[in-house]
Amino acid sequence: MSTIKLTNELKLPCGAVIKNRIGKSAMSENLGTKEHLSTDALNTLYARWANGGSGLLITGNIMIDRTALGEPRNVVFEKGNPDLNLKEWAKAGTQNNTHLWTQINHPGKQTPKFLSANPVAPSAIGLKPPLNKLFNQPIALTEKEIYDLIERYAYAAKVSKESGFTGVQIHGAHGYLVSQFLSPLHNQRTDQWGGTIENRMRFVSHVYQAMRKEVGNEFPVSIKLNSADFQKGGFTKEESMTVVQRLSEQGMDLIEISGGTYEAPVMTGKGKTIKESTQKREAYFIDYCEEVRKIVKTPIMLTGGFRTSKIMNEALASGACDMIGLARSVAVNPNFPNDLLSEKNVESSVKQLTTGLKFLDNIVPLEIVWYSEQLKLMSKGKNPEPNMSVLKAALSTVLHIGMQGLKKVRAK
Ligand SMILES: Cc1cc2nc3c(=O)[nH]c(=O)nc-3n(C[C@H](O)[C@H](O)[C@H](O)COP(=O)(O)O)c2cc1C
Repeated sequence: MSTIKLTNELKLPCGAVIKNRIGKSAMSENLGTKEHLSTDALNTLYARWANGGSGLLITGNIMIDRTALGEPRNVVFEKGNPDLNLKEWAKAGTQNNTHLWTQINHPGKQTPKFLSANPVAPSAIGLKPPLNKLFNQPIALTEKEIYDLIERYAYAAKVSKESGFTGVQIHGAHGYLVSQFLSPLHNQRTDQWGGTIENRMRFVSHVYQAMRKEVGNEFPVSIKLNSADFQKGGFTKEESMTVVQRLSEQGMDLIEISGGTYEAPVMTGKGKTIKESTQKREAYFIDYCEEVRKIVKTPIMLTGGFRTSKIMNEALASGACDMIGLARSVAVNPNFPNDLLSEKNVESSVKQLTTGLKFLDNIVPLEIVWYSEQLKLMSKGKNPEPNMSVLKAALSTVLHIGMQGLKKVRAK
């Protein structure tokens, strides 16, 4: 046991210093313009979080291609789409000596039908039922397209640095493109990008190196990675550890650990049978971190499930992780990090969500929908509403998606 706790600063391999051990993990805000540019709403939201105490804020996923979106109002960093507000966003989120990193993502096949008719992926393998009703069958990427995407990730890193963000994160988790390349289930290529784990990680290695080349050695580059996909035949814990080891050797500054995909959404604790011993330690992926800790020195941020100051400090002191990642807790209480730093015993107010209607709970991604509404409130300068009706948020999403689909049919 060490004496490391939430209030301690953290020095990264690149030399950057994070003022404490709390990181706000990425939450897609869906607050961009129709043209996928950033907005004043984002500036307001990030100013709120930068005053909330976290040492590190990571933006919601920013896309690299406007024809490949995760959600309709994603911000996109790509050539030919200059964003004049970006410096303001970076300024708002870096107040109080707070780090603000962009999370860079490409959804691969996890782009809904109403957003993309022809998704791309490592292999032409669709999501399994019932998700195949919502997501189109992807087309396998050509090698030329793979190199183009690597350049796009690097360009997004360049834009991040030039705009005043203080770091970048590759979204390598949750079943999006990087994660699809890593998975033997979703990547069945027979060329240099598929097959062995060394081949499947070639894409993420190239992405990392291309980004590093753009931003230099003194700028934080991070990745959010799955501890496993929790799918039969998918990316395993052992493979994940190999990736952590290789990326650490290449100079990664921080590795954030999560897990799951759209097909197995364990990142928010759903669907996973959580062992009793893990429940006591709150964090869903802490067993993995304890193991990976033994093989790498690279700073590890653990995200998913943390709720109490006591358990967070214990995880840090045990050395299982170096930073605590928080998402839903700061969506319902942006000041929660300050509460944690006060060194009193505090607890997050996050609770299990249900509409009360089982069929609706099964078809609507409640966690995303309800928490997005909280972000929207804060982006308007209002306070979150922890008592907001889950049913109302779910129905308004169903209606919204229905309207989008209808508009598309009418446009044909
Ligand atoms: C509304 C919402 C949006 C999210 N968007 C992202 C995202 O863009 N990128 C990402 O890596 N994770 C995303 N996540 C997952 C969170 O970063 C985090 O891994 C998960 O919520 C578990 O942490 P928690 O228990 O502290 O909430 C999202 C979660 C929520 C609730």
